[in-house]
Amino acid sequence: MTKTSNEMWGGRFAAGPDAIMEAINASIGYDKRLAPQDIAGSRAHAAMLAATGIITDKDAEAIREGLLTILSEIEAGNFEFSTALEDIHMNVEARLKTLIGEPAGRLHTARSRNDQVAVDFRLWVREQCDVVDAALQGLMKALLVQAEAGADWVMPGFTHLQVAQPVTWGHHMLAYVEMLSRDRSRFADARRRMNESPLGAAALAGTGFPIDRHMTAEALGFDRPTANSLDSTSDRDFALEFLAASTICAMHLSRFAEELVIWSSAQFRFVAMSDQWSTGSSIMPQKKNPDAAELIRAKIGRILGANVALLTVMKGLPLTYSKDMQEDKEQVFDAADNLLLSLAAMTGMVETMTPQRDNLRKAAASGFSTATDLADWLVRELGLPFRDAHHVTGALVAKAEAKGCDLPDLTLEEMQSVHADIKAEVFDVLGVENSVASRMSYGGTSPQRVREQIARWKEALA
Ligand code: ARG
Repeated sequence: MTKTSNEMWGGRFAAGPDAIMEAINASIGYDKRLAPQDIAGSRAHAAMLAATGIITDKDAEAIREGLLTILSEIEAGNFEFSTALEDIHMNVEARLKTLIGEPAGRLHTARSRNDQVAVDFRLWVREQCDVVDAALQGLMKALLVQAEAGADWVMPGFTHLQVAQPVTWGHHMLAYVEMLSRDRSRFADARRRMNESPLGAAALAGTGFPIDRHMTAEALGFDRPTANSLDSTSDRDFALEFLAASTICAMHLSRFAEELVIWSSAQFRFVAMSDQWSTGSSIMPQKKNPDAAELIRAKIGRILGANVALLTVMKGLPLTYSKDMQEDKEQVFDAADNLLLSLAAMTGMVETMTPQRDNLRKAAASGFSTATDLADWLVRELGLPFRDAHHVTGALVAKAEAKGCDLPDLTLEEMQSVHADIKAEVFDVLGVENSVASRMSYGGTSPQRVREQIARWKEALA
């Protein structure tokens, strides 16, 4: 049995689509999420059509009321979405026809689904930029609380995941604040560029009706209308930029998540994760697993995947709209949902984790972490060239290693057997507190510098 042709565009069709055709063609299963944006776009369009005399005020008012009814039906969950009507645009319009009759058919004057979907999707992505920004600020604030509590707590700083030099806990937390701040500026940047209205580009060429694109742009909170109708209907850069910014942000979260996985292990014990953000094992009763951190570590996979997927869809598409572009939405929805979930979970973990001050300090003092301070002392106090000081220090490290102790545990005599001029004052620089306190260069790890940065961030985020 063949179905009747589509009520929206079926004029030239004698028969309806094959069931599989309908399945591959329909986007309503996911683009129903664009309902609020679709209705906002249609309301702005209808008001403009009336203001320019293209439709009557009476019709515009009927359209406006009908759209508001549809919005409340959708919000209340009693709107019946139809796959035969393909997408959100035609679902809304068909319902409008049932509600208000003939004026519904005038709404699509001087408009196409091509500019309609472009404006709907931009509005959605723009809103996500704001939601992500708020989530990023929340996480930054949680990190600042941690940074302030342990501004001068000493922990090992790593390179190659080998103990390198002592740093402060506050400094380490602030490193992530810096990263997240760059993420914020990337989303803000993308948002600024995407904030132009494609509505009124119509199918691809613009329209002969005397529309006012500045009016609809302003009504929808855009800075201006887009300047080229072909570009307007074929552009998905705004979605790609959102995904690119999301990918970098997800990468930052993944790195932090990995640190939390390492730090919460029995071998490190740098932080205790709260029970709320951990899970147990079904067989090993002792286990407390950092599942949330592991999942955040993994989310970059699907978010980068979405970025690659949409770039691949867009690559090679001729101007202007092609149905390929319908494949944009699920990727962006999934990436946005998972980024927000990751940010929320990371914020929860940071708010509830307990850094283990003693363990951090003990680890900071291990692994000859103040060897650089020793070399610097030889340069400063004995006037050795840094290369020679490096060599002397290396010999002292070897001595300590052979003895099975740390650098401060060597006796002065043992030190002098390597370099005769070494004096007892050298022991002052071998302590981890002295080491971090000395790193006073701008951006350095000393508690004083860290507190200055905390103050700066608190003001910036207030
Ligand atoms: N559902 C479509 C999409 O998401 C809307 C635009 C359809 N335009 C068209 N000419 N078939 O891309």
